[in-house]
Amino acid sequence: MLKYVRNELFVEKVAVSNLAKKYNTPLYIYSQDKLEANFNAYKTGFKGVDSIICYAMKANSNYAILKLLAKLGAGADIVSGGELYRALKAGINPRKIVYSGVGKTSKEIEFALKSDILMFNIESFEELEQINKIAGKLKKKARISFRVNPNVDAHTHKYITTGKEGNKFGIRYEDAFDIYVKASKMKNIEIVGVDSHIGSQILDVTPFKLAAKKISALIDKLESNGMKIKYIDIGGGLGIKYAAADKPQKPIDLRKMVMSVYSKYKDKTIIVEPGRAIVGDAGILVGEVLYRKTSGPKNFIITNLAMNDLIRPALYESYHSVIPVKKSSKKQQVADVVGPVCESGDFIAKDRTLPIFEQGEFIVAECAGAYGRAMASQYNSRPRGAEVLVKGSKVKVIRKAETIEDLMSKEIK
Ligand code: LLP
Repeated sequence: MLKYVRNELFVEKVAVSNLAKKYNTPLYIYSQDKLEANFNAYKTGFKGVDSIICYAMKANSNYAILKLLAKLGAGADIVSGGELYRALKAGINPRKIVYSGVGKTSKEIEFALKSDILMFNIESFEELEQINKIAGKLKKKARISFRVNPNVDAHTHKYITTGKEGNKFGIRYEDAFDIYVKASKMKNIEIVGVDSHIGSQILDVTPFKLAAKKISALIDKLESNGMKIKYIDIGGGLGIKYAAADKPQKPIDLRKMVMSVYSKYKDKTIIVEPGRAIVGDAGILVGEVLYRKTSGPKNFIITNLAMNDLIRPALYESYHSVIPVKKSSKKQQVADVVGPVCESGDFIAKDRTLPIFEQGEFIVAECAGAYGRAMASQYNSRPRGAEVLVKGSKVKVIRKAETIEDLMSKEIK
C-alpha cells in the first residue's frame, strides 16, 4: 500500500505530503485496498470451513472502517456497550457479534441481550450468574460460551499474552468442565460454544494448535455429557510485520493449524477474531519534524507525534518503522524520534538510523492502523488528528481532526 514514486511516498495513488498539507498532522491515513485485502485473506484462508470472521473492533472502531468490513461480511468481536453501539450503527449483523471481556456491566449485558447478539464469551462464574439473571428478567435465553484459558504460551509481549495461567482472562482450563455443567442447569442460559484467545501479535501459529488440542478434549467431554457445542471461537492474535525481521504467518496458516485438530467436527462453526491483522498494516501515522537536538551522546528528532497519538512504543516498547515522506540522499544519524509530551516514555522510535531530517519535514510511523487512533488520548491537552481513507486516487475524511475547543466541549464552564 505504501510506495515511493520519484522519491515521494504514496498511499495507493495519493501523495502523503499532499494529505499532510491539506489535513494537517498528526494524520492517520488508511488504504482501503489493503484493508479489503487483509479481510479477504481471512475469507479465502477459511474458505470451505464453516466460519465467521468477527473483526476485533478494539483495534480500530472507526465507523467508516466498520461499514466497509460489514459490507465484506464481517461480524464483530466486541468488548463494551460502546462497541456494540458502533457495530450495530455500521450495519454489522448482530447474529455475527460475539461479546468478550472480563467486566461486562448489567447495562451492557441488557443491551446485548436486547440486540440478540450471537453469544457472550463469559469469563467468570459471577458473570454467568449475572447474565442468567438479566436474561430471566428480559424473558430471554442468553447464548453463551466460556472463554477458557488453555494455559499455552503465545510467545508475545507480557502485556498482550492472555492464554497463560495467572492472566485475568478466561476460566482456568481445569475448572472449565464444572462451570459448563453449572451453566447447563441454568434456566436462561443456552450453551452454544467454547472460546479461547491466547494473545496478540503472534508470529508463530503453533500455540494455536496446542490450544486447539486442549479445547477439543474439553469439547469432547462436554458433548459426551450431553452439552452441544456449535461454535468454536479461536480468538484473534495473528501478528503483522512491524520490523523487517518479523515474519508473520497468514490466515491460511492459522486455518491449517487449527483445522488439523478441528476438522473432525462436521457440525461446528469456527469463529475467528482478528483485529491487528485486518487494520494494522493498512494504516500509517503522519507527523512532522519540529526540532533537532543533541544531548550528550544522543540525537533527538522532536516531532509532533506523541504518545497520545500512538501509545504502543511507550506502553509495550513496540517497534514502528519511521520513514521519510520525501526520500533523499541526506546524511544519516542514529536518533530517537520523540514527541512533545512531558514524559521520558514519550517516544515513537529509539536508536534508529535515520536521515538527518529537516525542520518541517513530514515523517511517517508505519503500521499504525491497529491500536493507534483507537488508543489515542488528549493527554497534555493535545487534540487528536484526522483520519482519512484512501481508495485509488480518492480520499475520504472519515474523522475530522479535533480542535482545541473540542478539548473543553464536555467541561462545565
Ligand atoms: N479477541 C480478544 C478476546 C482479544 O482480547 C483481542 C485483543 C483480539 C481478539 C484481537 O487481537 P489481535 O488480532 O488484534 O491481536 N493494544 C495492544 C493489543 C491488545 C490486544 C487486546 N486483545 C497492542 O497495541 O499491541
